[in-house]
Amino acid sequence: MRVLGIETSCDETGVAVYDSERGLLSHVLYSQVAMHADYGGVVPELASRDHVRKLLPLCRQVLDDAGLQLTEIEGIAYTAGPGLVGALMVGGSFAHALGLALGCPVLGVHHMEGHLLAPMLEPDPPAFPFVALLVSGGHTQLVDVQGVGEYRLLGESVDDAAGEAFDKAAKMLGLDYPGGPQVARLAEQGDPARYRFPRPMTDRPGLDFSFSGLKTFTMNTLAAATRGGDDSEQTRADIARAFETAVVETLAIKCRRALRETGRRALVIAGGVSANKRLREQLDTMACKEHARLFYARPEFCTDNGAMIAYAGWQRLRAGQRDGDRILAVPRWPL
Ligand code: KG4
Ligand code: ZN
Repeated sequence: MRVLGIETSCDETGVAVYDSERGLLSHVLYSQVAMHADYGGVVPELASRDHVRKLLPLCRQVLDDAGLQLTEIEGIAYTAGPGLVGALMVGGSFAHALGLALGCPVLGVHHMEGHLLAPMLEPDPPAFPFVALLVSGGHTQLVDVQGVGEYRLLGESVDDAAGEAFDKAAKMLGLDYPGGPQVARLAEQGDPARYRFPRPMTDRPGLDFSFSGLKTFTMNTLAAATRGGDDSEQTRADIARAFETAVVETLAIKCRRALRETGRRALVIAGGVSANKRLREQLDTMACKEHARLFYARPEFCTDNGAMIAYAGWQRLRAGQRDGDRILAVPRWPL
């Protein structure tokens, strides 16, 4: 089965074709990041308009790259949520119009399920069951995964998501949106011994997270340095380093706990923050010590993309799932 995947939940337009026999045939991505950067964050109305502008040309391009005619598409998957409702409606309407014309099945998929399954597109994919850490701009969750659609939530953030904390810390440090990669870059120049930030909620049992306190800690540390007349680039790098280390270590502590509690031997990390180099290194070391293996997607499939939606859609379409005559756009939707 050849599935066209469409992702428009936020500020990236992603389109891809997944073939159950041959794997991923092609994928294209258009990022709106430069447009939203002027506003310091995603402007929903502008995001929807840009998806409208880009979806058709990207769809043509992905078919050309795969050497396919539109009529060779046998199923269509789109992101039905969670995300910005206007942006979701663009992808959902487009997918259903195509499906109606082609007479092929259409299915709305969960954006976080897309992230969760993305590492399965890699050459050495994880096998079920595994523990998954989902770390994106909107979510921080630990999930016990038995199979497609068989998810048990082990813990989640009670306030900010890890990616959101990165983005907010970036803003305070005077860095551009999206902040995660920029904080990571600045942190490379930072002195790891200069500051120590707290590891929130690690001193009590459970698998929940809290990252809003780190945001306040970052603000106070910056303010104290500035009051002391120090607003140097080095100090900002030292703060970025301490912030990143605190987030990474907190995530690692909870992942280790989740592996021990479930007895699983595989840990999958997915979502934008899973592109973070230090997080990958630290989790790799931890997993090794726990006699478990770490899996993640290539960096371009950690952040939003169409390939993960095509793949997750195929997994569910082949099980017979269909939308019917309903275009789904679900801004808030638990996994
Ligand atoms: O999965 P994603 O592309 O979109 C959502 O579904 O939210 O994740 C975006 C988030 C942003 O908060 C971004 O700052 C963060 O992932 N991110 C990173 C890195 N790359 C992206 N955070 C830390 N280090 C990175 N290298
Ligand atoms: Zn995402």
